[in-house]
Amino acid sequence: MLKLHNVHKSYGNNEILKGVDLEIKKGDIIVILGPSGSGKTTFLRTINYLERADQGTVDFDDIHADLKSASKKEVSEIRRRTGFVFQNYNLFANKTALENVTEGLIVARKIPKAQAIETAKKALERVGLGDRCGYYPSQLSGGQQQRVGIARAIAANPEVILFDEPTSALDPELVGEVLNVMKDLAKEGATMIVVTHEMSFAQQAATEVVYMEGGVVVEKGSPQEIFSHPKDEKTVRFLKRILRQDFDYAI
Ligand SMILES: Nc1ncnc2c1ncn2[C@@H]1O[C@H](COP(=O)(O)OP(=O)(O)OP(=O)(O)O)[C@@H](O)[C@H]1O
Ligand SMILES: [Mg+2]
Repeated sequence: MLKLHNVHKSYGNNEILKGVDLEIKKGDIIVILGPSGSGKTTFLRTINYLERADQGTVDFDDIHADLKSASKKEVSEIRRRTGFVFQNYNLFANKTALENVTEGLIVARKIPKAQAIETAKKALERVGLGDRCGYYPSQLSGGQQQRVGIARAIAANPEVILFDEPTSALDPELVGEVLNVMKDLAKEGATMIVVTHEMSFAQQAATEVVYMEGGVVVEKGSPQEIFSHPKDEKTVRFLKRILRQDFDYAI
């Protein structure tokens, strides 16, 4: 359904992505793991043109587009099919939860206001915030703000939802409510690419785990393969550090 091929991106002389490939099928939950600075956010942002790659292609069902030189029409078509959930929510502080969700529907998707409000309410209900429509971000907890962020991403029914460390800005006690919403979406058949350090989510929800380091995909496989039988010593080193346990991996 969605295929990224040979994605390259540099900032100045610094090559951040060195030829990343990724393929996702409908209903897949791909979790991307990797140390800080390995290019996970950059990669996710190139998928829907929040960032322009220097090289690479994207295939999205019937669309084949160049990541560097796509036309406006191709960019808007790919954006229409994807939702993005940001680490820091990226909500408008001066808009209510409902307005934050309707904004994109009205402005980008040209949906009539009344219909956008209906759609946004349903999305907020799906993330458990049906009773918070009129609240401003400052009146919501971090977990609630991120759930508004998820409602905004899913409101227009994207084919793929991209999550960039959606829980890493949250206090530990608020992480669970956001992960539960994500697990519900996964159960309902959503297709998702999730950058996260939440290993329990990766173990429970992922259909595939991708380990990135230094701008390349080092290793990928089922959660079972990656967590119980990692093959590359870089993966082992990362897992040991992050799980803070002395795993006895046989490579
Ligand atoms: N706009 C930018 N300009 C210059 N360098 C950038 C820019 N964005 C990212 N970088 C650099 O690219 C590298 C990869 O950043 P990226 O945010 O993709 O990493 P990450 O894997 O998401 O890390 P983290 O786990 O900390 O979020 C970093 O070295 C970063 O400094
Ligand atoms: Mg990041």
